[in-house]
Amino acid sequence: MTDLFSVPLRAVIFDMDGVLTDTIDYHYRTWQRLFDEENIPFNREQNEALRGLSRLDSLNAVIGDRPFSDAKKQEFLDRKNQYFHEFIEQMDETALLPGIAHLLPEIKAAGLPMAVASASQNVTKVCTQLGIADMFDAIANVYDVPNSKPAPDVFLHAAQLIGVEPQACLVLEDGGSGIAAALAAGMRVLGLGSPEIVGAAHVVLPDLAGVTWTMLRDRFETPRTMTSSAVSSVGR
Ligand code: BG6
Ligand code: MG
Repeated sequence: MTDLFSVPLRAVIFDMDGVLTDTIDYHYRTWQRLFDEENIPFNREQNEALRGLSRLDSLNAVIGDRPFSDAKKQEFLDRKNQYFHEFIEQMDETALLPGIAHLLPEIKAAGLPMAVASASQNVTKVCTQLGIADMFDAIANVYDVPNSKPAPDVFLHAAQLIGVEPQACLVLEDGGSGIAAALAAGMRVLGLGSPEIVGAAHVVLPDLAGVTWTMLRDRFETPRTMTSSAVSSVGR
């Protein structure tokens, strides 16, 4: 069987929240506001498990089997999104996570197409606010496909939009459900964040500060004779 890591990389697919920009706190604060208003217990720790889940999947994960009607749930989702917009309207390029402002032009200069594959319905709006929407050849979200993360659909869709086979795509993800989705899509995966959440990725880094495309390409195009703990092997 061909080692995935011997296939040359031809595209990079980014998750957005937690990879391009740190909206995790905005999501946390807006969910907390909604659940406080509704007297539903919620905390930061629970929010961590929501990384990568769609808005509806996040709501369902928190309310469990509380018997809310579909109309009430829709009202919750709309209210949460209204609160979230109060934050994203203020966003600009200063909200890019460390490393992104250098990495995107570097990958572009290397001639590889880039896509975003996000669970957020706000993906185009946020990328526009960040001033990076034009860098991408495709922006896909889970509303374009039948199944959201952890199903592979959104990553396969993004790869199809840019015309690159999954085996030649590298995914950058910060969520457990997104890591599972990218692996299920047959792609190489860099997990960003704590190993408890992204430990299933092929390579794990705390963040992208100081990480260059050359480092990533070298690491992800080298047949795997070593373990997945590769922090030092991308030069850090
Ligand atoms: C994901 C985030 O990218 O998008 C989740 O990790 C968020 O925390 C989800 O709930 C949905 O985002 P939105 O913008 O559609 O509410
Ligand atoms: Mg994310």
